[in-house]
Amino acid sequence: MKLAIVGTGYVGLVSGACFAEFGYQTVCIDNNISRIESLKSGKCPFFEPGMDNLLSKHLKITKLLCFSSSLSESIKDSDIVFITVGTPSRRLDDQADLSHVWSVSKEIAKNINKYSLIVTKSTVPVGTSKEIKKIIGSIISDDLFDVVSNPEFLREGSAIDDFMRPDRVVIGTENEKSKNIMKELYRPLYLKETPVFSTSIETAEIIKYASNSFLATKISFINEVADLCEAVGANVQDVSKAMGIDNRIGDKFLNAGPGYGGSCFPKDVKAFYSTAKKFNVDLSIINAVHKSNQIRIKKISNKIISNVKKSSLLSFLGLSFKPNTDDIRESSSVKLANYLFEQGYTINCFDPVAMENTKKEFSNFNYFNTAQEACNNVDAIIIGTEWNEFRALNFSEISKLVKTKKIFDLRNIYNRSQLERLGFEYHGTGK
Ligand SMILES: NC(=O)c1ccc[n+]([C@@H]2O[C@H](COP(=O)([O-])OP(=O)(O)OC[C@H]3O[C@@H](n4cnc5c(N)ncnc54)[C@H](O)[C@@H]3O)[C@@H](O)[C@H]2O)c1
Repeated sequence: MKLAIVGTGYVGLVSGACFAEFGYQTVCIDNNISRIESLKSGKCPFFEPGMDNLLSKHLKITKLLCFSSSLSESIKDSDIVFITVGTPSRRLDDQADLSHVWSVSKEIAKNINKYSLIVTKSTVPVGTSKEIKKIIGSIISDDLFDVVSNPEFLREGSAIDDFMRPDRVVIGTENEKSKNIMKELYRPLYLKETPVFSTSIETAEIIKYASNSFLATKISFINEVADLCEAVGANVQDVSKAMGIDNRIGDKFLNAGPGYGGSCFPKDVKAFYSTAKKFNVDLSIINAVHKSNQIRIKKISNKIISNVKKSSLLSFLGLSFKPNTDDIRESSSVKLANYLFEQGYTINCFDPVAMENTKKEFSNFNYFNTAQEACNNVDAIIIGTEWNEFRALNFSEISKLVKTKKIFDLRNIYNRSQLERLGFEYHGTGK
C-alpha cells in the first residue's frame, strides 16, 4: 500500500514516520519548501522524542519515507492520501479555519489518476469530510475516490508511542470498500489488539471534538475547584487524588494549573461550541469551559501582582505548553509571562527546548541557559511548565541566588514545607 500525507506538522510527520515503521512506502508533502528541504536532510522541524531516529531510519536505511513539496508529482500512485494540514481558529467567529483543507482537497482532486482513499486526519468540524467529497466530486468522477474520517489522538511529547500504541483507532467511512482498506492499513495495530471503532463519518468527526472538549472540561473543572480550595485553605492535590482514584472519574487531566493551552484544546473547544451553534445546539458546558480557561491567566496573574510589586524581576521556568515539546502555541506560561511584562515586570526565562521558538515571538524576555542563571537576583520564581528537570531543582543553591525568596509553583510540583524550610514564601495552585 502506498501512502501520501499532505502537511508535515506534528500529526503529518509523526503519522508518516510511523506508517513507514509499519512498512508502508510513504511520501510526506508540504508547501513549506524550507521545511521539506530540512526534512530531506533528516532534520525534524520540531522537538519530539524519538523522531530523529525514526526519520533517519526510514529516510536512509529502509528508504520507505520520502519528502516532497510537490503534491502533483507525489500523489499519483497513492492508494491513500491523508490530509493533515492545520485547522487553526478563525479570529472572527471561533470556527475552525478550513482554508488549508479546502485548497488541499482541490489540489488532490486535480492530481488523482487512479482510485484513492482521501482520509481526513486533521481535526475538522462535523460535515467537513462530506464537504471534501463534494469538492473532489465536482472535479473528478465519484468512482475514483472515497472519503474517510480518521481523527488523530496523538499527544505532543509522546506522539510516536501514542501513534504506535493508541487507546483506540476511529475510522469513519460510508461504505465497506473504504472500511476494508482502512482496516488493512491499521492491521499492524490489530495485532496489538488496539480497539478499532468503525463509525459513520459524522460520528468519527464528533468523537475527536467531544474527546478534546471533555479533557479540557476536566482541566477547567479542577482549576475552579482549586480556586475554592485556596479560598478555604483546602488542598486541591488531595482532592484530585481522592477523586481520581474513583474509576468512574480517573486521575488523568485532573491537575490544577494555569489553564489548558497548546495547539489543540483551545481551538477545538471553541470550534466544537460554534459548530453546534450552527445546528442550533447550545453546548453550554463547553462554552463555560472556554470562558473559564480564558480568565485563568488573569486570575493567576492577579495572584502574582498582589504578592510581587510591579517592575520586579520574575524568573519563568518552563515556556512550552507542556513538558517534552518545544511547542509554545497558546502556552499558558508564555501568555502569563507576556501579560506580566505588559504590567511592567521584567521577565527572565529558561526552558529546556522551547527557548528558540519563544525568542522568535518574544524578544522582550531575557533568555538564560540554565534555570539557575534565570533565577539570579530575581524577586520571584514562577514554575510555568512541569518539566522533569524542574522537579528536583537545588533550591538551597537557588535561595542564595535570588533577591527575594518567593515561588509560584503553578504546576504543584513542590511541597510547601520543603520550600518554606529554606525560607521561601510558597504559592501553590489550590493548596
Ligand atoms: N498537534 C497535535 O498534537 C495534534 C493532535 C491531534 C490532532 N491534531 C490536528 O491535526 C491537524 C494538524 O495539526 P499539526 O499540529 O500537525 O499542524 P501544524 O500546524 O504543525 O502543521 C500543518 C502543516 O501543514 C502544512 N500545510 C498547510 N497548507 C498546506 C498545503 N496547502 N499543502 C501542503 N501542506 C500544507 C503546513 O505548512 C504545516 O507544515 C490539526 O487539525 C490539528 O488540530 C493535532
